[in-house]
Amino acid sequence: MLNKPLEGKKILITSGGTIENIDPVRYISNYSSGKMGFALATAARLFGAEVTLITSKEYADKDLKIIKVKSALDMRDALMKEIDKQNAVFMAAAVADFRVKEVAEQKIKKTSECDEITLTLIKNPDILNEICDYKRKKELNCTIVGFCAESENLLQNAKDKINRKGCDYLIANDISRSDIGFGSDYNEVSILTADGKIEKLERDTKENIAKEIFKRIKIC
Ligand code: CTP
Repeated sequence: MLNKPLEGKKILITSGGTIENIDPVRYISNYSSGKMGFALATAARLFGAEVTLITSKEYADKDLKIIKVKSALDMRDALMKEIDKQNAVFMAAAVADFRVKEVAEQKIKKTSECDEITLTLIKNPDILNEICDYKRKKELNCTIVGFCAESENLLQNAKDKINRKGCDYLIANDISRSDIGFGSDYNEVSILTADGKIEKLERDTKENIAKEIFKRIKIC
């Protein structure tokens, strides 16, 4: 029991960058590798939780319930179907803030008359904001953890973000550093709590950072 502190808990984790189609052959996405989300899913499972992973990336692990999605809208739908049963949600996915307003049904062709095209982007829902509002409205017993990737003013942006998003914890990391973050097997994060505490976890493998995160976050 001691080494399975999350036994009986249901934990949902999102990971990877969402994919926003332009036409049948092209899309907009971002550099998120999904590795931090996978590390969290593996650590949660190791600690005894029942884990659901909603991800845009390929990942095989028979001990996890994996739901493959592409766009932010798909991710929101998949998450809303699962959230009522969860003790915690970790929003580690890099959700695209914008999607293409009109996805072309056929491949966009270049023509000799035209040297530029314009794509109109519209805002995606802020999934983290929405689930925090939903939790309050439904009085769910669910710990909600946001993530934030910043390229400057890490802690100030993270403090603003935890207030703005309304989550219980925020895990902040600095993407301006090439030795951690996107694509790397290493990370260094600060854990912020809604009541203003900040704890830094020094650079380590994403696997170890994930385990340390679960030792510090109180799951409902
Ligand atoms: N997030 C989300 N839905 C979005 C954008 C972000 O749920 N449309 C979540 C991410 O999964 C993450 C947190 O919000 O847990 C912060 O994401 P981040 O990209 O750092 O912040 P943004 O909301 O995009 O804010 P900004 O543009 O100011 O960086």
